[in-house]
Amino acid sequence: MERAHREGFDEQERIEVRASGPLEGSVVIGGAKNSVLKLMAACLLTEGTFVIRNVPDIEDVTVMAEVLRAMGVTVSRSGGALTIERPAAITPEAPYALTEQLRASTAVLGPLLAGAGNARVALPGGDDFGPRPIDMHIAALEIIGGRFEISGGDVYATADNLVGNPVLLEFPSVGATENVMMAAVRAKGTTVIDNAAREPEISDLAGFLNHMGGQVTGAGTSTIVIEGVEELRPVEHTAVSDRIEAATFLAALGVAGGEITLLGARPDHMAMLCRKLGDMGVRTSSDPDGIWAMCSGRLRSADVSTLPYPGLPTDCKPLLVSMLSVAEGVGIVTENLFSGRFRYVDELVRMGADIRTEGHHAVIRGVDRLNGAPVRASDIRAGAALVVAGLAAEGVTVVSDPHHIDRGYEDFAGKLNALGADVRRERPGG
Ligand code: UD1
Repeated sequence: MERAHREGFDEQERIEVRASGPLEGSVVIGGAKNSVLKLMAACLLTEGTFVIRNVPDIEDVTVMAEVLRAMGVTVSRSGGALTIERPAAITPEAPYALTEQLRASTAVLGPLLAGAGNARVALPGGDDFGPRPIDMHIAALEIIGGRFEISGGDVYATADNLVGNPVLLEFPSVGATENVMMAAVRAKGTTVIDNAAREPEISDLAGFLNHMGGQVTGAGTSTIVIEGVEELRPVEHTAVSDRIEAATFLAALGVAGGEITLLGARPDHMAMLCRKLGDMGVRTSSDPDGIWAMCSGRLRSADVSTLPYPGLPTDCKPLLVSMLSVAEGVGIVTENLFSGRFRYVDELVRMGADIRTEGHHAVIRGVDRLNGAPVRASDIRAGAALVVAGLAAEGVTVVSDPHHIDRGYEDFAGKLNALGADVRRERPGG
């Protein structure tokens, strides 16, 4: 099966990457996928017309728009702005045909409970890197008055009255924190989320909810306090910049060398990553327009351990593994968030990388040069990491299943090429 898939490469859409560098110039970093998807869900909270700006043109946003449309919401795009018209009455259901394409679709649970009093949401699919349950979302929403039943693959949720309560999360889950925030904003009384996730996207959501008339304080810390309010109003909002897209271009710079500026990137949201990249030989500094970065000579290895924000993001890990594959020395990478997030390693090994994995760890011995090979993108970041590796590989790296990359990156090849890389999107028959 696997071989048949690889032999069929020629007929498939793919990205071809050739050794590139040094990279030069500037690239505009878009709005954060992981924020925009939740802001779109938050529009379910109340009737009216919302505008979200700085929205990347990516597949996950397209699917989330379909999730909202299936409920009777009108979503339209003009340039980088989405206009979302939420009618008074909606059908609070998210079918499996959509949720299986987008795990973040579970973000509608909280707003539907608060905005419609009930919901039927098919248990989601999502990325291919291990089990991703929503038990913490459900347990936390139960504490503030949600009632849940799972049957036939669907989550049925109802709430007559949401009531503020203390919510202690077992783990600072990003999705659970967001779902509770979006439900508690309309609860009676005060909800205090302890051990809350601290990601910048959580702060962006809090800003959005407060602008709507909510009362959320403490976002960005591990204790978030939400005073329930009776009424919310639609708003216009500009999404925070995507720190993972920014990290991707820094990784490309790391393997290809050069000097680039990431326009719109937020250095304050990437402090741990920039420190680690500094250890590896990529210089970064704040620029009035974003982040300036430079890299010359061979990268140095470093040990890397993923953690919830402000630790190193798990989403950056595949990118760091690509960098370490060509760095001087040995680096140990430890994954602390997701169990199966080393699948792309087999593809890097096919390109000549020297990587051994054991449970949550990978030991990477840097090689002088990778070799281009046919490889397959298994999820968004793994796909991006393979393209990055291709920039440092002799010959042609052919990345199949690029639709995974499209889920999270707007015009990835075009943006890399504008910096001087050689990345071509090949379509069957075109
Ligand atoms: C979000 C991001 C994702 C990022 C992740 C961690 C979006 C759309 N996605 O995902 O890109 O990699 O944060 O920074 O924002 N868990 C449970 N039960 C739950 C919820 C989570 O066991 O109910 C576990 C997960 O399996 C995982 C860990 O907790 O091992 C972290 O997950 P979480 O922070 O919830 O990530 P997501 O919100 O799914």
